[in-house]
Amino acid sequence: MIKAVRGTRDLLPPETALWNFVESAVRDVFRAYNFQEIRTPVFEDTALFSRSVGEETDIVSKEMYTWDDRGQVPKILADAVTPEDSARYSYQSLTLRPENTAGVVRAYIEHDLWQKGLSKLYYIGPQFRRERPQKGRYRQFYQIGAEVIGPASAGSESPARDAEVLEMLATLLDRLGITDWNLELNSVGCPNDRTAFNEALRKALEPVKDKMCADCQRRTVTNPLRVFDCKVPEDQPIIEKLPRISQFLDEPCRAHFEAVQAILKSVGVQFVLNDRLVRGLDYYTRTAFEFTHGALGAQNAILGGGRYDGLSESLGGPAAPGIGFAIGEDRLVMSLKESAEGVLRKPDVYIAPLGPGMNAEAARLARELRRHDLVVELGDESFRLKKSFEAATKAGAKYILIVGENEVKADAFALKDLAKGEQVSVPRAELAQRIQGAR
Ligand code: HAM
Repeated sequence: MIKAVRGTRDLLPPETALWNFVESAVRDVFRAYNFQEIRTPVFEDTALFSRSVGEETDIVSKEMYTWDDRGQVPKILADAVTPEDSARYSYQSLTLRPENTAGVVRAYIEHDLWQKGLSKLYYIGPQFRRERPQKGRYRQFYQIGAEVIGPASAGSESPARDAEVLEMLATLLDRLGITDWNLELNSVGCPNDRTAFNEALRKALEPVKDKMCADCQRRTVTNPLRVFDCKVPEDQPIIEKLPRISQFLDEPCRAHFEAVQAILKSVGVQFVLNDRLVRGLDYYTRTAFEFTHGALGAQNAILGGGRYDGLSESLGGPAAPGIGFAIGEDRLVMSLKESAEGVLRKPDVYIAPLGPGMNAEAARLARELRRHDLVVELGDESFRLKKSFEAATKAGAKYILIVGENEVKADAFALKDLAKGEQVSVPRAELAQRIQGAR
């Protein structure tokens, strides 16, 4: 038997009701903050990710699903391939998106969105990383993310954007009933700070690097900041003693970070400072953050994000400071307290056609009731009444509606409340209202 690939999974009902509940709640919140949806392709040119997320990150160096995509050179041409042919059939390296910020910024540049001022975009969709699967970590997972990006003249660089995004996240989690989250905040500075910091890191790592894992030894040379991503337990005491980016922030970065914190305090969003938080992607500048949730276990980051003021330029676009985040939807759903049963809309009514010829009548009624936004489950005329009752109860319907020859003649139908056991005859014209009234 062929099974779902390791690290991927089927989302089945009733759990899918929770996913729908989450997605509809976040869409409402995004609307209130004036964000609009963007959908980008699930695969992109590999260079997009290596240039933005960074060659030395775990994502790009180990976790991407990358393949060479090309048209096959037809056999007949194989011996006489002209330069045009080879360009036409040349390889293009493609990658399943491991995250969506790079794709959004690519689209932002490609469609000249910068001409419209500030863009506030959100997305919901699958991402792909070849990580070791465990609870809360999948190879195909889902993110709900948002990006605020635009020319500095539109206010994109302002600490007010950072604070608004963070306050929106706190609102969103509260709205979903997730209360015991923790916001961890840091500033990773700007490229100037980073140069000085990297130098200091290299110096501090030089005498100890031989005791560290192979990845860290390589990172010391190529991108010392990434040492902070190391999860090897033996390396942690060494990493604990390394200098921190907070000691290297220049004055504008320090002021920006303080302004973000001041607004958060004024709106009452709690946070803790964590100067080890550097996030696993290279594009970040200044504000970096994660929301964690205790109930999630080892993979406790429910979402992460930050500023990326130079990303657009590094992809060949105009200067366009930005900030955004992505929520791990799989983890968000896991941490929801409500059960799927609580958010699942059960059928309002189960229609039981009774006897030959009644399917057509029942279909007509179902059509009418569904147009009144009622959830209707439909039985079959071949079912005996007992079987219809059993099916209605199994489906969790509130009412069962009997459609037999007598009812059709009278144009009034037996409607039974399955929990209370009360049965009444209701004229067709009053059915929808009667059932709705019970909701
Ligand atoms: P990230 O921290 O790599 O950031 O991912 C964001 C969230 O996606 C994580 O906090 C986690 O909840 C979820 N996640 C990541 N990998 C997995 C996985 N293998 N299985 C399940 N969930 C996972 C980004 O992706 C950035 N693009 C966020 C961002 C947007 N920064 C600025 N704008």
